[in-house]
Amino acid sequence: MTASELAETTLFVCVTCRAQVTEGVSPDQPRAGARLLAAIETMPAEHRAGIAVVGVECLSNCNRACTVAVTAPGKWTYVLGALDPDLHVQDVLAFAQLHQRHDAGLPAWRERPEYIRKNTVARVPALSMPR
Ligand code: FES
Repeated sequence: MTASELAETTLFVCVTCRAQVTEGVSPDQPRAGARLLAAIETMPAEHRAGIAVVGVECLSNCNRACTVAVTAPGKWTYVLGALDPDLHVQDVLAFAQLHQRHDAGLPAWRERPEYIRKNTVARVPALSMPR
């Protein structure tokens, strides 16, 4: 096992995101972001291996909710948006696993889930990267 395989990627999940379609959604229901976090946390452990899942409040992508960010020390950070807790949990975890396995956190474009390719909001280099 290489060092990059051991490095942990962090998946930040915004728990305050609201569903894009709110018609019929009761104010008593958990927010879509909280449901996304719960859905990720209930996935089998092998889908989350090497990934720390952390709930946070607002990643400043509220208009394209739900939102997550994938990052690790010395690697690129990705912000992913327009996620539906009922549809995109496996795509998010697949992308996080690709990020975790790549030394620089740069999953190959063709290997990324299609929905993630189309809904990547931003990517940010690590501070330690050469310029
Ligand atoms: S509330 Fe989720 S990004 Fe702002």
